[in-house]
This record gives sequence, C-alpha cells and structure tokens, in this order.
Amino acid sequence: MKRDMFNRFLLFLLVILLYPCLFHSHSLHLNSTPITFSVCLPHQSSILLQLKTEFTFQRREYYDDILNNSYPKMKSWKAGSDCCSSWDGVSCDMATGYVMSLDLSMSWLHGPLHSNSSLFRLLHLHELNLSFNNFTSCPIPSEFGQLSRLTHLNLSHSVFSGHIPISEISRLTNLISLDLSYYFYELDGNDLTGALHMKEGEVGRLTQNMTNLRRIYLDSVQIDSHVPVDFANLSSLTHLSFWRCNLLGKVPNSIGNLKSLNILILQYCSFSGIIPSSIGNLTELKHLYLESNGFSGQISYSFGNLTQLEDLILSSNSFSGKLPMSLPHRVKSIDFRDNDLTGSIPSDISNLTFLEWLDLSNNSFTEVIPGSLFKLPSLTCLSLENNQFTGYLNIQNVSNSSQLESLILSGNNLTGHIPSSVSKFTMLSYLNLDSNDFSGRLDFGIFLEKSSLSSLVLSNNRGLFITNLSTTSTLSNQFQGIYLSSCNIKEFPIFLKTQGKLEALDLSNNNISNPIPRWLLSIGTETLYNLNLSHNFIHGWEKAPLILPWKVMDTLDLHSNMLHGSLVVPPMSTTYFSISENSLVGRIDPLFCKLRDLRYLDLSSNNLSGTIPQCLGNFSSSLLVLNLRGNNLNGNMPSSCGDGNQLQTLDLSYNNLHGKIPQSLIKCKELQILNLGHNQMTDTFPFMVQSFSKLQVLILSSNKFYGPIWHPHSFFGFVNLYIIDLSFNDFTGSLLSQYFQNWTSMEETSYNKSQLKYIGEGSYSYSVTVVNKGQNLLYIRIFTFFMCIDFSNNKFHGEIPRTIGDLQTLVVLNLSSNNFTGPIPPSLENLIKLESLDLSKNKLSGQIPQQFTRLTFLEYLNLSDNELVGPIPQAGQIGTFENSSFEGNWGLCGPPLSKKCGTSPLPPHDNEKSGDSILSGFGWEAVGIGYGCGLIIGLMPGYIITSRSPYLAFKIFRVIPPRRLRGVNSCKRFKLK
Ligand SMILES: *[C@@H]1O[C@H](CO)[C@@H](O)[C@H](O)[C@H]1NC(C)=O
Ligand SMILES: *[C@@H]1O[C@H](CO)[C@@H](O)[C@H](O)[C@H]1NC(C)=O
Ligand SMILES: *[C@@H]1O[C@H](CO)[C@@H](O)[C@H](O)[C@H]1NC(C)=O
Repeated sequence: MKRDMFNRFLLFLLVILLYPCLFHSHSLHLNSTPITFSVCLPHQSSILLQLKTEFTFQRREYYDDILNNSYPKMKSWKAGSDCCSSWDGVSCDMATGYVMSLDLSMSWLHGPLHSNSSLFRLLHLHELNLSFNNFTSCPIPSEFGQLSRLTHLNLSHSVFSGHIPISEISRLTNLISLDLSYYFYELDGNDLTGALHMKEGEVGRLTQNMTNLRRIYLDSVQIDSHVPVDFANLSSLTHLSFWRCNLLGKVPNSIGNLKSLNILILQYCSFSGIIPSSIGNLTELKHLYLESNGFSGQISYSFGNLTQLEDLILSSNSFSGKLPMSLPHRVKSIDFRDNDLTGSIPSDISNLTFLEWLDLSNNSFTEVIPGSLFKLPSLTCLSLENNQFTGYLNIQNVSNSSQLESLILSGNNLTGHIPSSVSKFTMLSYLNLDSNDFSGRLDFGIFLEKSSLSSLVLSNNRGLFITNLSTTSTLSNQFQGIYLSSCNIKEFPIFLKTQGKLEALDLSNNNISNPIPRWLLSIGTETLYNLNLSHNFIHGWEKAPLILPWKVMDTLDLHSNMLHGSLVVPPMSTTYFSISENSLVGRIDPLFCKLRDLRYLDLSSNNLSGTIPQCLGNFSSSLLVLNLRGNNLNGNMPSSCGDGNQLQTLDLSYNNLHGKIPQSLIKCKELQILNLGHNQMTDTFPFMVQSFSKLQVLILSSNKFYGPIWHPHSFFGFVNLYIIDLSFNDFTGSLLSQYFQNWTSMEETSYNKSQLKYIGEGSYSYSVTVVNKGQNLLYIRIFTFFMCIDFSNNKFHGEIPRTIGDLQTLVVLNLSSNNFTGPIPPSLENLIKLESLDLSKNKLSGQIPQQFTRLTFLEYLNLSDNELVGPIPQAGQIGTFENSSFEGNWGLCGPPLSKKCGTSPLPPHDNEKSGDSILSGFGWEAVGIGYGCGLIIGLMPGYIITSRSPYLAFKIFRVIPPRRLRGVNSCKRFKLK
C-alpha cells in the first residue's frame, strides 16, 4: 500500500513537471481543471488480466529493425497494482477510471483473437492499437463493432486474414483514424498481399457513416474491385493510403472532392489511365505518391495548382511527353524515375528553391542539363541517370552553401571535360559519372582534397585519361567506394595507399600490367567487400599470399588477367570469386573447401592441374555455380552435392577427367546446367539427370560415354531442357518413337516469346561457348528459345523417330555421323523454327520429303553422304543450298547436283564410305563453327547477344551485381506515416 502511494506521488510529480508539454496543444490550464487521479476500476483490471491470459508471448519474426526494442507489454500487468498508472500500454480516463486507451503495439501477442475475447468488454475504449503482433491469421472479429467509442483503431501488421467485417466496423462512426494495413509481403519474397480482403464497393460502405474519419490506411488489403473506389463521401480525409491494393482502372474524378487531403498514397496498385485534372482541386495536398502503377499521358499541368505540395512521386509509370511547364512552387521532392518522359529540363526549374530531391532517372530526356539545376539552394540529391542528356557538364561557381550530397549523371551522353568545379560541392558524398562520353585529362587531385566525398564513380568514359592518381597526401579524403573501370589506367593508383576504409574498388578494364602490389593487400583489410581487377594485364603478385587478407570480402573478381603461378585462396567470407582466364598452374588448394559462404566459383580457362579436391563437390550448401572448365584437371569427377545443396551450374568441361559420373550426382536436384564435355569419361548415359526438373543444358560431348540413351523404365523425357549435346561419344542403340515424348520445353505450347529468359538466369551468366584458350572468351547468354539437339558422331542406328517433329521450337538438329537408316521423317516439316539441320553421314534412304520446302528459316542443311534418292525439292529455302548439302547420295538428282533426274540410282560402294569416317571429325568441326550446340557464336545474332567488347560482356552479362553502393543510385526514399 505504501508503495502504491509512493508510485502515485511519483506520478503526480511527473505529471506536474510534464503537464505543459503533454497538454500544451489542448488549451487547458493548470488552474481550470482539477487534477484527480483515479485508481483503476477493479472490473477494468480484471478484464485486462483476463485478456492477458488469452495470448502467449512470442517475439514476432521479421521486422527486426522495427521490433528491436519491443517487449511483451502485458508482462507488467499484475494483479494488485494500479492498471492506470503502472501497466504498460494502458491509459485511463482520469475522471472515471475507465480504460480509454490501449496500446499493445509490438507486444509479442501470439495466438488468435477470439470473438469472445475480453477485449470487447472494454466498452470505453477510445484508442486501440494492436499493430505488429501475431494473431496467427485469424479473421478480424466482428465484435470490434461493439467498441463504439473508438476514435483510433490500428490493427496493422498483426497477421489477421480473411474478409474484413464491413458492416460491424462501419458502425464505428466516431473513428478518426483506421489502419488495417499489412506490409508483410516485403519479407523474404513472401507475398501475403491479400491476406485481408474486401469486396467491390465495400470501401464506400465501410466509411459511409464515418463522418469524422481523417486517416485511413488500407495498404496491402486486397480489394476485389474492378470499379475504382468512389471517394465522394470522404471529404474530411487528410490521409488516404492504398499501397499494393490491386485496384484496377482509372482514378475517378471524384478524387477532387477530398479537399482536406494531405497525404495521398496510391502506390503499387494497378491504376491506369490519366490522372484526373480534378486532382488540382486538392489544394491542401502535401504528399502525393503514385509510384508503380500504369498511369499514362502527360504529367498533369494541374499539379501546378497544388501550392502546398512537397512530394510529387510519380515514378515507375508510363507518363510521357515533356515536363509540365509549372511545377508546384514549394515542392521538395520530385521523383519521375522510370517513365517515358522526353524533352529537356526547362531552365526555370531554378525557381524551385525548396527542391531537395530530383530524380528523373530512366527516362528519355535530351539536350543539355541546365547549369541552373546545380545551383538550386536546397537540392541534396540529383539523379538524371540513364537518359540521353548531351553536351558539356555546365557546373560553375558552386556556392559554398550548396547542399548537394548525391550527384548521379551516369548513363548519358555527356561530353567534354569533367569540370574541376564538380569537386567544389562542399557536401557532396556520392558522385557518379559512369558511362558517358567524357574525355580529356582529369586531374584526380581535385577529388583528394575533398573531405566529404566518399563514393566516386568515373567508370566507362573511354576518352577519359585520369592523371595524378599517384599523389599521396596524408590529408587525403577517405573513400568508401572508388569505381574507375575503363578509364585508361596503366598502373595501380598510389593514392589508394591512404584509403584505409575502402569498401569497394573497381579498376577493371584498364591497362594495368604490373603485379598486384604488396601494399594493396593492406588497404581496407577490415572494410573492403568488393574488389574488381578483371580485364587488365596484371601479371601476378608482388608477393603472392596464400590466403587473401580482406576480412569482409564478398565479391572478388580477378578474371581475364595474366596471373600466373598458383591459385590464391580468397578470404573466407567471399561469396563470389572469379579468377578465370588467367594462366594459373598447380592444384586447387583444399583450403577452398573452407569457403562456406561461396556461391559462385569460377576458375575456368587456366592451366590448373591435379585432381579436383573431393570436398569441392559437396562442401557447401550455398554454392550455386562451380565452373572449372578449360583446365588440365584429371582424376575422377568428385562426388558432388551434399544434402540441401543448391548447385545450379556445374561445368567441368575441357579437362582430363576420367572414370564415371558419381552416383551422388543424383542429389544435385537444382542443377540447371551440367557440362561435362571434352573429358575422358567412360560411363553409360546418366539417366539420373532426368530427375533434375530444372535442367536446361546437358552437355556430355567428346567423352567416351557409351550404351543406349533410352531405357524403357528410366527415361521419361526432359521437361525443361533446351540444349542437349551428346556428340562425339560411343552411344549406341536406336531412338524409339517414345524418345522425344515429354520434352515439353521444346514443344510449341511452352514457347512464349513474352517470357524470354536466359538460360541460367538469376544466377550466373552462362555461355556454352568455349573459344580456344589465349583468345578472348566471349560471354554469351542464350535465350531459352535457342533449342538444340546434337547427337552427332555416335553409333545410333535405326530410324529417326517421327516424334522428333513434335519438338517444334527446335533451332538446331544435328544427327550426323551415326548409322541412322530408313527415310527422313516427313514430320521434320513441323520444325518450322529450324535453322540448322545436319543429317549427313548416315544411311538414310528414300527421298527428301517435299514438305521440307516449309522450313523457311533453314540456313544450313547437310544431307550429304547418305543413301537418299530421287529429285531434290526445288521450292522455298531448300532450293538455295549448294552441292555440298547433297553430295555423296548416289541416287539424288536435280539441281544443284549436276546429275539429271531420270537415271536409276546405284548403291554406293562400301569402301568409298569408310574413308569418310576418318575425315568426318574435320568436316564436323568446319561445320561446327556455326552450327554445333556448343559452338554458336555468330549464329543468329538476333537471338544471341555476343559481346561487342570484353567490357561490355562483363557489364551486360554479369548477373550478380556488385553489392550496391552504400550511397544510393536513386534519390533516397523516405517513408511516410
Ligand atoms: C505468426 O505465427 C504463426 C504460427 O505460429 C507463424 O507460422 C508465423 O510465421 C508467424 N508470423 C509472423 C510474422 O511472425
Ligand atoms: C449509415 O447510417 C444510415 C443512417 O443511420 C444507415 O441507414 C446506414 O445503414 C448506415 N450505413 C452503414 C454502412 O452502416
Ligand atoms: C475542381 O476544379 C475544377 C476547375 O479546375 C472545377 O471545374 C470543378 O468543379 C472542381 N471540382 C470540385 C469537385 O470542386
């Protein structure tokens, strides 16, 4: 009891002290209201104690940052203490002792909220906040309708689901604020949008009688409505938020009725059409967020009327045309990124003296950037990335009071010198001039004096010569990120010696030839997570370490250099490591097995020898890509794939591996690409690969595989395969007509151009091309509709099954140099996408089907050295091929062969045939330059993107972006509420 008194006294003191702060907005005066402190009414506290028993307490998953300081508030609810003064989250009416307000947000409540919950007996509640708990997907009880005094109701992010009880909630006519949002979808790609839903017209019904309603948040509530919400009767609303609402259609004109609106958020919905000009009537509007919809048309001129507007966020829509003549005068942030806007930036943009953020990136703006833009006094972030701005960068007389922090002009056509004034912005921390046409000499010293600049990107300005990289100054600026790719740099910049806090360094695509200096290994040892030295002429290490020193390294790219000596081991934290296309020798150190976080390992195109460490096959559950192609590795293929592995790409081709494919391969269930070509492996066909439902590329060519490739009990077709290359092996047997059943990836039905993907997409840029070592390796990504079957140079016999005609999206078919007999199946006419057909060097007989004239895409045809007879069809594409396509068939006649039709065919002599087989390899190679599965450079440039330059290849096809700069590439986004 004493303690209680003491508490009350303390509270009294506190209130006296805080009174002016707490209540200053209500014009109450100390003297005018008698201060009474009531103790919690017993029945109120017993209701609360009852409520406490209804849940368990469990910290919610996710939202770590938000829930960081959360705790189970109800733990402080104890019988015997005053619920009004000492229970967390409870406030009472001072006069009556009734619980007026209950704030149980982030209170770890776990379990369903039942309709008989004692919560619904707190009839005096005015404010109720249950956000960020976990009511385990129970529906929102309709009993909320009983709490008729509620002015504030917040049920957001609390894992409710199902239909919102509209009629009951609509009875809460005193509501001022209603929040039923649900943002859960953001996490882990879990899209729980629509866990709560409403039907057509229910937004109107819900709010019909809520005449005091000011704020309504229905983010992520699924509203099944094709008719847009009618906003007519929400005229006192100040906040309206639909985020991820999947509302369709146009925003109705009636939006103009919401005259009090302060904040309007209609983001990530499916709105389309133009924005009604009535939006210009919303003169109180301060924040307008319309990001990620399908809005189109010009950006409405009526925005100019919105004199209070501070945020105008229209990004990721389809707005087109020029910028409006007048923009709201007080606007602070303009985000028009990702639209189709054109024209120039009007120079009177300099009137927007309040402008802090301007993001016009990813549009098609042209002409010069007006110099006045850089003088806007409040501007902190300017992003004009990926447009077509031209001309000089006109930055002059930078004001000392400039607020500019981020200047992002990458991906334009800016020319001329980079003006030294760019270093004069006193607050600038992130400068990105990547991928322009800047040229001339640039004194790097100007950036070293600056103290605020932390990330600098000057990459890909091919005419730019950076000088003074070797200055060292103890006063030098400390950078976090330096990106100087393709800047004509010839040696390691000495200034880096002082950069102890470096996090990212990109010196790729330069002309650096000296060895990696010893001092480089001592910079950023605690901070560097991204190092790219690829595409230089680096000759090795000044002193080669065994393990590289950087403690937090993530992405380490040393590929395409002239590194020799033995292979270094990347730091243990590395997730991406490429050192391909160097001249490394020696073995792969077993220490590689300790790299537990490694996702991409590319050691291809070196001269590594020895066996593949056994552990490398199964060492890590994080490994996605293992590429050891083009080395001299020998021994057996390691048994691969431990439990829970995610391996997607396994390329061991062009080595000297012997023996069999280990049985453990069957655990590599996620494999998309398996390339064992050009080894010495001796085994039967690995039927287990069929259980890899994602397999897209299977290459076993040029080994000693043998036996049949079909088995009545173990072959069921391939559902996802695009490329299969079994050429140059000893496979035997015939292909039964069942063989090509269930190759659904190659059937027309699954062919959908709008869903074009690259093979291996999302993981690693994969090319099936190997150009001889010593030459530049071209990176090629293959679209999934490049479909290819190469069974050439084996010992298959029997007829070519008719069902091959079902593989309607086939582009390359090579069955040459086998012992196929019988006729060419006329069903081949269905392969209308076929561009290359090679059936040469078999024993095919009969006539060439007339239907072949339908194959209009055919660019390469080889039917030579068979036993075909009769006239060569003359119509269509087939009439355009030369002698060589048909010769060696004694019975064929008609152009282009000189033999006239009419004379009877003679069978060929056996000895004439046998001489060919020795030559067939050469013949195949010559042909293969264009048309084998594994060699497809130059074939169909429309389908395959080949790199124009090694750099470009890197830039386009490197799928894993270096981790984003700590600075931002678009202007900072901020969240309201
Ligand atoms: C809510 O609880 C359920 C059941 O315990 C659980 O499966 C779910 O992951 C939890 N959700 C959150 C966001 O914590
Ligand atoms: C709104 O109030 C009117 C008049 O009291 C009533 O007829 C109507 O049903 C109410 N609407 C809703 C949705 O509850
Ligand atoms: C909105 O403004 C237009 C003029 O721009 C006016 O004609 C219209 O009546 C206004 N609408 C409302 C709902 O006030």
